[in-house]
Amino acid sequence: MSHGIFIAGTDTNVGKTRVTLALLRALQIRGIKATGMKPVATGTRPITAPELPIFAGFCRIGDLINDDVASIAALSPPDCERLDVNPYCFDWGVSPHIAAAQAGVRIAPERVAAAYERLAGRCDALVVEGTGGWFAPIGECGTMADIAQRLALPVVLTVGLRLGCLNHALLSAQAIGVSNLQLAGWIGSVLAPDMPALEENLAALDALLGVPRLALLPYSVSTDNDASHLRSAAAKLFDAPLARAQAASTHLSV
Ligand SMILES: Nc1ncnc2c1ncn2[C@@H]1O[C@H](COP(=O)(O)OP(=O)(O)O)[C@@H](O)[C@H]1O
Ligand SMILES: [Mg+2]
Repeated sequence: MSHGIFIAGTDTNVGKTRVTLALLRALQIRGIKATGMKPVATGTRPITAPELPIFAGFCRIGDLINDDVASIAALSPPDCERLDVNPYCFDWGVSPHIAAAQAGVRIAPERVAAAYERLAGRCDALVVEGTGGWFAPIGECGTMADIAQRLALPVVLTVGLRLGCLNHALLSAQAIGVSNLQLAGWIGSVLAPDMPALEENLAALDALLGVPRLALLPYSVSTDNDASHLRSAAAKLFDAPLARAQAASTHLSV
């Protein structure tokens, strides 16, 4: 039995990937078999030769890869299939609904759910990174919210700390509530070294969002300490559900 969470964001470029990777590392440091998943990615580049050993069995020379998927795959167990870690990938780095239309593909939440179930069969913990903001369109009438709803996981909102983030955070939290999903908490990522009134913004988010602040990633060009900032968030998000899953499977096997 496994447990997963969905990493949403107040926008694109707000720190969702930083948070996803840091959580994965924090879980793995604690000995938990964890994988990341990026259901929909847009924008690719050719894989580089030095990256190939990391993706042995996962990618071949000449393959195109998305940056987020490359980072997530590098941290995911080798027995997780690339198409499960990333069921939909489009070369054009635009909104998923535009990239999918150009490629003649329909993004189906059911296919994402099937990939999730296969990964869940191989791992104890799954961290699923959304694309863009909560209502980023994936098709003529669907948005990323439909994928999150189909997966039915608790949601963690990544708030990119910059001017405008209070409005974006409150709108996102309200939209997640309308989707009837549990907002398990929020994580702040400080996007600039000199954000004015950082403490006041954090205090406003604490007061207005009404769910726990699980972590704060301070501004840092290096990602070396990211996992240590997410250690306690990983424990809060995964320990109790994994213990319950373990107890349920022990109960079933006796
Ligand atoms: N805490 C932080 N400190 C410094 N740079 C950050 C921080 N969080 C995010 N960034 C930078 O912001 C950019 C967008 O982050 P990313 O995690 O890729 O966002 P998203 O996945 O939401 O698009 C990246 O260049 C990333 O390194
Ligand atoms: Mg990302």
